[in-house]
Amino acid sequence: MRDNTAAINEIIGLLGDKQRKAYVRSFGCQLNVSDGEKIKGLLMKMGYSFTEDEHEADLIILNTCAVRESAEDRVFGIVGSMKKFKELKPSLIIGIAGCMTAQSHIAEKIKRSYPQVDIVLGTSAISALPELLLKALQGAKFSADISEYDDFSEAAEQVRESSFKASVPIMFGCNNFCTYCIVPHVRGRERSRRPEDIISEVSRLVHSGYKEIMLLGQNVNSYGRDLEGCISFPQLLRELDAIEGDFWIRFMSSHPKDASKELIDAIFECGKVAKHLHLPVQSGSSDVLRRMNRHYDIEKYLSIVRDIYSRDPDFSLTTDLIVGFPDESGEDFGRTLDLIREVRYDNIYSFIYSKRSGTPAAVMADSISDEEKGRRMRELLEVQREVSTEHYKRFVGRTMRVLADDVSKKRQGWLTGKSSEFIIVEFEGDSSLIGQFVDVEITGSMNWAVTGKLKKG
Ligand code: SAM
Ligand code: SF4
Ligand code: F3S
Repeated sequence: MRDNTAAINEIIGLLGDKQRKAYVRSFGCQLNVSDGEKIKGLLMKMGYSFTEDEHEADLIILNTCAVRESAEDRVFGIVGSMKKFKELKPSLIIGIAGCMTAQSHIAEKIKRSYPQVDIVLGTSAISALPELLLKALQGAKFSADISEYDDFSEAAEQVRESSFKASVPIMFGCNNFCTYCIVPHVRGRERSRRPEDIISEVSRLVHSGYKEIMLLGQNVNSYGRDLEGCISFPQLLRELDAIEGDFWIRFMSSHPKDASKELIDAIFECGKVAKHLHLPVQSGSSDVLRRMNRHYDIEKYLSIVRDIYSRDPDFSLTTDLIVGFPDESGEDFGRTLDLIREVRYDNIYSFIYSKRSGTPAAVMADSISDEEKGRRMRELLEVQREVSTEHYKRFVGRTMRVLADDVSKKRQGWLTGKSSEFIIVEFEGDSSLIGQFVDVEITGSMNWAVTGKLKKG
């Protein structure tokens, strides 16, 4: 962990009482959002306040995602449009952080084609932000740090987005090298945080009133394997479950190849662990899974699902799916639709395959047209809609415990929240309930949410 105190103090001295507002926007997964919260924590130390309006910012940081080409295109579009901001306010500093910066061709493109960018900050170099910012404030045209230091987690203060839901990364990086995926290339190998650090962070959060703790890792099931004598993920769940307080524990993502019986036992035996499992399958075809390097086949996947349903037939499962992996045949795709119908997911996150340069799938032959991939995506969404419409009916007539999240965007005077099963629940209620657990009697269901009545008392 680098010592950035001198740079922080120099910035405080340099800016004095000058107003400094930062706009920090994170793209991509929750791990990246958590990094964004750490970036904000560092900026707060340097006296920055935050704005949601980029037009009034003195510093803009885009914390980027590289998982699909569309995500990168979006960021390039935004950076392009910020050229005029800089013309209007030459003192504005623009920084690019996150996963895009870890690809050398992207870092070069930013330097070559986007002179409005002052700072490039790599995914493992967040603690270098004060030094880079200091250089930019002193007039440097471009400064970058994409070297690897550490994950900075233990020392980092965070400016959290929510006062009742907190993300807690338990590990960084990924060892799995799925053939389509850029993440291991931009985030490096697995590094687990020490269990005592995680337990004390979660205890602190719970004691300060947080109601939902989301444990994060690209594959939480391999937690601790890189640390000698470390406890396993199911053991970590049990330790966290023992912390006193009224709160829920969620986690993402759980790779099916490592989803053990111990994990399922822990989910069912720990009262605070939510009754929902996000189990990304990616494809319903064992042949495609082999070419994706996923290390399980559909039989193994279904054996996990059957174990869960044998304990609770109403348990909630969600998944990630990729449509149009190179040379995915019509039969392969049909198997994905069959799987959706068999598992009855409550929700799916589906993506059209995006070619990522440097990954093995990028050089695989692909004879499927973009039109066909689009058609398959529409069909998949239609099947999922039918499945969830039917499956959500099981909640009608029940009382669900819900963490009230926000005001409903659909109906005035209503709130929206999530149940332990990760189902969206909409109900009439006062905004003072936001951030609290409430009981809701479910009276109706749709394909994306259930509706109900707040139970009094
Ligand atoms: N580590 C998690 C896992 O293995 O389930 C997933 C992390 S990834 C950030 C989230 C999802 O993005 C993946 O589950 C996959 O469905 C999707 N994804 C990753 N690479 C992709 C690509 N090249 N094209 C389309 N979708 C992709
Ligand atoms: Fe990507 Fe696979 Fe790692 Fe998930 S497990 S981050 S999909 S390489
Ligand atoms: Fe996450 Fe995107 Fe990076 S999904 S790890 S922000 S490539």
